[in-house]
Amino acid sequence: MWAHDYWQLEEHGLSPPDIMTFAKKLQTAGYFAMPHMRPKEGYRIFNTWMGDPCKVLLFKAVVKTIKEENLLDRVKSCGVKLTMAQHGLQAATRAKDDGADEELIVCALLHDIGELFQPISHGELAASWLRPYISPQNYWVLEHHEIFQSHYYQHAMNMPKDVRDAFKDYPYFQACCDFCEKYDAPAFDPTYETLPLSYFEPMVHRVFAKPAYWHPDWKKDPICAAKLACASAYPTAE
Ligand SMILES: [Fe+2]
Ligand SMILES: [Fe+2]
Repeated sequence: MWAHDYWQLEEHGLSPPDIMTFAKKLQTAGYFAMPHMRPKEGYRIFNTWMGDPCKVLLFKAVVKTIKEENLLDRVKSCGVKLTMAQHGLQAATRAKDDGADEELIVCALLHDIGELFQPISHGELAASWLRPYISPQNYWVLEHHEIFQSHYYQHAMNMPKDVRDAFKDYPYFQACCDFCEKYDAPAFDPTYETLPLSYFEPMVHRVFAKPAYWHPDWKKDPICAAKLACASAYPTAE
């Protein structure tokens, strides 16, 4: 894919681009340019204009290494990590721009933190990790978000029905719909102005600095109450 395709310049009225370059890292290179961008003087861009046979030999060695070391697959897995990080930052930025409270912003930031470990239950991973420090509602939203998120891609997967409907009578149904609609589903937009991790760091620290299971409703949950009883026996720093 060309960079200008990826950035959707056409949709933003910026296409065609003035110059397109390619394959500089592959030791061979070239460019396309609109007529007004072409150099008037000859030999100004020697290698790409005239060609360079030595670069073809280097290029062969580069391609050999790419194949032998399986670099294309490795770059894909690294790329997923980068993309997921950006997705979390954008979901958090969208929550902040929407006026969400700090706890929900942190939930948006970390909602997919389990995706690389276990895609098919990554909601539970994030929910479990944050559970002691967040409300039962936010816990439920995190736990179920991957199910509710399918509302936005089910048509492409030929899914028979909207699976989130099975949870219509649950008290946090609408909260989870809202989370996916406003923060999760749209957070793949490369043009959205996304805040850096440093902006959210103090919020994460404050949420995790709360006493475990601080929300009063957790005490009604037997698992949380038992965990709290166990935790009270842990030695503290004081
Ligand atoms: Fe997710
Ligand atoms: Fe997500």
